[in-house]
Amino acid sequence: MKKKHIVILSGAGISAESGLKTFRDSDGLWMGYNIEDVATPRGFAKDPALVLDFYNQRRKEVMAAKPNEAHKGLAALEKDFEVTIITQNIDDLHERGGSTRVIHLHGQIFQMRSVTNTENIFNIQGDINIGDLADDDTQLRPHIVWFEEPVPMIEKAAFVMQTADIFVLVGTSLQVYPAAGLIDFVPSEVPKYIIDKVIPEVEHYKNIITIKGNATEGVKKFINMVTK
Ligand code: APR
Repeated sequence: MKKKHIVILSGAGISAESGLKTFRDSDGLWMGYNIEDVATPRGFAKDPALVLDFYNQRRKEVMAAKPNEAHKGLAALEKDFEVTIITQNIDDLHERGGSTRVIHLHGQIFQMRSVTNTENIFNIQGDINIGDLADDDTQLRPHIVWFEEPVPMIEKAAFVMQTADIFVLVGTSLQVYPAAGLIDFVPSEVPKYIIDKVIPEVEHYKNIITIKGNATEGVKKFINMVTK
């Protein structure tokens, strides 16, 4: 029998218990930094060193973090289901947790690219510094989708949403578009599990099941619900 397809849209909340800060919680990254300064092409043009430093720091933090039970639990579902994870996160904790099909909407912290060519992508573990050049002789920058930039994976993600038999939203405030609009592509009859400490605004969708709490606990409950 064909396995059911579980599609998961994840955000920073799934990595919070791995010690990585979210963006909009009271201790979140956007409380300490200006979005315009560190996460827009305008910010990079104005002060590239500040932006590189911001992401160099993020890279070190991700390197030191480990996948938690929520990442691992979602990966283990691949035994019984077809699973696709669409993540807004730039960390690699879904992959290190064992998931094999992960689509990164907002880029990846362990990749960098030429400023002029979005396709010219390289792996990076250490820091990116001013003067580090791609093979087209332009400055390297993190392979991150900043505000005001197009989201190249959005069409693929929207297509995947339409193929869901079960949908899970975990650890995202649904504040950032176009990612937040992806749930619109999930067929209305499909059950939609929402796992978050603070349930975002989803009441207008059909077939919503809310699981309020931390991602690790919430994913465990979700797995019990779909595998019993
Ligand atoms: N378990 C479950 N949910 C949690 C936990 C936790 N331990 N901690 C926080 N959360 C929830 C919050 O309640 C909130 O709903 O995670 C969500 C985090 O929301 P944001 O900080 O807005 O992060 P996210 O939705 O991923 O942000 C989207 O904005 O600036 C950006 O590009 C960045 O990809 C990011 C995008």
